[in-house]
Amino acid sequence: MPSRRHIITVTSSISSFALFVFILVVLGLRYTARGSGADVASPPSLPEENNIFSGYGEAKSRCPSEAPWLNQIRIDRPFQYARRDIILRPNRDLARKSVTKLDEALFPDFQDISEGDNHLASSTCLEPLRLEVPAWPETYPDASHVIFGLSTSMARLEDSLVYFQRWMSFTKARVIIVVTGEADIMPKHSDMRDLERRMRQMGMHVTLVRPMEEGMPMEMRYFSLVKVLMEHRDGRTEWAVFMDDDTFFPSMREFINTLNDYDASKLVYLGAISEEWWAVARYSFMGFGGAGVLLSVPLLELVDRHYQDCIDQSGAGAGDMRIYECIRWYSDTGLQHVNGLFQIDLHGDRSGLFESGRKIVSLHHWKEGWWDEGQLGTPRPGHATWFPMDRMNVVADVCAECFLQRWQFGDDLVLSNGYTIATYPNGALSKFERHRGLEKVEETWIKPGVIKGANNPGWDHYLGVMRPPLELEHEKIQYRFLDAWKVDGGVRQFYHHFGVNGSLDTVMELFWIREENWKVGKTP
Ligand SMILES: *[C@@H]1O[C@H](CO)[C@@H](O)[C@H](O)[C@H]1NC(C)=O
Repeated sequence: MPSRRHIITVTSSISSFALFVFILVVLGLRYTARGSGADVASPPSLPEENNIFSGYGEAKSRCPSEAPWLNQIRIDRPFQYARRDIILRPNRDLARKSVTKLDEALFPDFQDISEGDNHLASSTCLEPLRLEVPAWPETYPDASHVIFGLSTSMARLEDSLVYFQRWMSFTKARVIIVVTGEADIMPKHSDMRDLERRMRQMGMHVTLVRPMEEGMPMEMRYFSLVKVLMEHRDGRTEWAVFMDDDTFFPSMREFINTLNDYDASKLVYLGAISEEWWAVARYSFMGFGGAGVLLSVPLLELVDRHYQDCIDQSGAGAGDMRIYECIRWYSDTGLQHVNGLFQIDLHGDRSGLFESGRKIVSLHHWKEGWWDEGQLGTPRPGHATWFPMDRMNVVADVCAECFLQRWQFGDDLVLSNGYTIATYPNGALSKFERHRGLEKVEETWIKPGVIKGANNPGWDHYLGVMRPPLELEHEKIQYRFLDAWKVDGGVRQFYHHFGVNGSLDTVMELFWIREENWKVGKTP
């Protein structure tokens, strides 16, 4: 659908998490050959201890006097710095809220961190913050009844490995990827098998296949996923998911929970319309591809039966459109729009959505729109412009559905977990609070295409009535996500703000840990 921009860069970095998973898997693996391709390894079994957080150790100290980990972030010194430990307690009766208000401050006073000095003043240590969150599961979700299909190039897939790994690994979701080589030629068989093997070693249950024909245009490769998924489904498959290579699922568990609301034995077509009314008016009430298009197996079979007829009749230049047409032509099944699946037809600054507290079950277009000023993020493919979803989302491993969940501290600070900490000086927050401010989405991005005569100014049908954007640095100061990694039994997370008009940069650190892993000695 509209605007699919693709950026390809290559670096050889691998996150420490990837490395850890890799080592676990290599140690624990049993390979067995499969039917047709004798050189195809079966997907790796799960790590023996089926606990996402096994093996990370535990917190070492409270109010540390040194923060050697600050050497790992790439911010020029001196900078202003504050940190806080957050101890998470599971509560079965608690549902995820869009925003939770707390009366206390999140951070103690800031201190300056200068060159070669990681000393922390004890006066800048606050007692850990104790937060209740919905109870978290101890095991990986089981997505073995879902088969995902996408089409991409070998090079783009290679660059996406750490991102795919984040949502896909160890979930038993089966993923079939139609891959092309350079300039759309057929990829070499040995290259495919090598990449497939590496992905399986990272815990992804993937199978790489070639396009059905050489030189197939993109929309046809997409539509051919119907055949590909039919062929690769097995007795357990209930749902087929068509996705783009820049679709991301922040929580496989949430995705599965969403599917559980529907009856996969019926003809069911799920997906999301665009957030932009202009795009809906132009393309129809259809499942926009980037958000993920979901067909129950009976519906997949129906489209498969009419596969050639639909190809013959269609002139559509987009694959998701072809799926929609075929379903409409040969059944009475209409799209059921699923809130939480996001096509992200939003361009420019998407902060308004990521800071809205909405639960995001799928999101698209994360390979554009991020701005890594100064190239401060951890080197990885695309790090200048791709949302660092592989790191932003790490916190979900410690508190499940808390990714992008919001907590408001006092009158003027809002944490949107994994995206920003924002402060609202000069009473900006109370200014729009009167109009249910924080429940509304801030329209931070580029204006929508206009449909003449429509009552809907652009986003109302999906995002609701918007609130106008605040002026950055004056009404809203964003401390943007910088990095996160797993260590000492929890997740260390950093946010950063560039100093304005000669003031120092600021770094904020949150260390998220579950109560059961918080076993530190006495305060020094
Ligand atoms: C930075 O300086 C410019 C020029 O004096 C001024 O217009 C702007 O408001 C200042 N920004 C902040 C955040 O103070």
